[in-house]
Amino acid sequence: MTTANKDKLSSARFAQQTDAFVEVFTASVDFDQRMALQDIQGSIAHATMLCKIGILTELERDSIFTGLETIKTEIENGEFQWSVQQEDVHMNIEARLTALIGVAGKKLHTGRSRNDQVATDIRLYLRAEIQTIISWLNQLQAALLNLAESEADTIMPGFTHLQVAQPVTFGHHLMAWFEMLVRDKERLEDCVKRINVMPLGAAALAGTSYPIDRHLTAELLGFTRPSNNSLDSVSDRDFAIEFTATASIIMMHLSRFSEELVLWASAQFAFIELPDAFCTGSSIMPQKKNPDVPELVRGKSGRVTGHLVSLLMLMKSQPLAYNKDNQEDKEPLFDTADTLKDCLRAFAEMVPHIEAKRENMYKAAKQGFATATDLADYLVRKGMAFRDAHEVVGLAVRLGLESKRDLSELSLAELQAFSEMITDDVFDILSLEGSVNARQHIGGTAPDTVRLAIKKARQQ
Ligand code: ARG
Repeated sequence: MTTANKDKLSSARFAQQTDAFVEVFTASVDFDQRMALQDIQGSIAHATMLCKIGILTELERDSIFTGLETIKTEIENGEFQWSVQQEDVHMNIEARLTALIGVAGKKLHTGRSRNDQVATDIRLYLRAEIQTIISWLNQLQAALLNLAESEADTIMPGFTHLQVAQPVTFGHHLMAWFEMLVRDKERLEDCVKRINVMPLGAAALAGTSYPIDRHLTAELLGFTRPSNNSLDSVSDRDFAIEFTATASIIMMHLSRFSEELVLWASAQFAFIELPDAFCTGSSIMPQKKNPDVPELVRGKSGRVTGHLVSLLMLMKSQPLAYNKDNQEDKEPLFDTADTLKDCLRAFAEMVPHIEAKRENMYKAAKQGFATATDLADYLVRKGMAFRDAHEVVGLAVRLGLESKRDLSELSLAELQAFSEMITDDVFDILSLEGSVNARQHIGGTAPDTVRLAIKKARQQ
């Protein structure tokens, strides 16, 4: 039997050294070191509070502060020596602190456990990440508003079932994407409400016998309040699941957006030109310009949803309170935030350079009898019941199909053969412009309505 490694965490209780493989297997420092600054922030608040309740002297507290500042600088300069023997970010920092300042470093962990410490760190980390994500969302929304404004009059086919349905304006279509992102931002902000509850003070699971001041630490760390139940505090990862769920929805939106860009950039649609800087060529086909960025974003949406499922599975069978399983929360969570930031950035920087091929969009809207509903509505306004109008227009469409002409290209006499109610004012409504301009209610596609929607969105 080997003697205990005295440098190792919890070593005094153990007669045997940790197996070398197990040491690596159980360590999280490779990935949780990215929460180092949050860990230091949490420790500063904890030390401040310990001093205030008389557990640390002012001298000890200040020496902890100085040590943590040094560590922070070492980490920022890439000089900090991370060690797998110290298992995770928390133990690495604490060990270094003790090496730097001596016995005061050993007092920092009084009334605290890594269980409440890690839960606090993740919340601090995620809160900051969400601010960055929201600022990318804002940039993408601003880009969409600008493009929607310059394309408010651009007519394109609107689709249902990917079949031409009714004419819409490109500005209106862009504003649909804008609206999805409005909801996404609301979901993130809602998620922050629950992230902003502080677990610190729950200690390992049962709280601590020291007279800690949790309101003080909550205030110092910018949390709205301390958590209500110590068992729940160390085991709860709902906030990570909520964030990942929200991220999955955002990625699903970006993926739908991507799908449309990919289709529209194809020679068959030719509705848009994507900026060269966001496309790549083919190693074999010299003519190719591939929409790699939207394709990759579409692909990455699967990855983020995978992380959501990982976190749900991670939590589903855990008894209270903390279990080591929870260490597995970090990689999916970090990768979700990283992927989301990258994808939003790619879109925020690409959208301003999307070029609408207006004539192609217009030509496409001319095909597929996009104004058929307008003709039916016209007959209704003249007194026909909608179902009868639907039937009449169906016959007119059939004539158009047979003679390969749009409804607007049928003569008045031909149209009147279907209904005497049709007079020569019908051609105003059969035009694409007439169709979109008629839709002026809130949420409609008329250029003026779209401009109003953009103005309102800018005010918010
Ligand atoms: N590295 C651990 C984690 O990520 C920190 C908490 C460890 N706590 C424990 N009792 N082993 O969850």
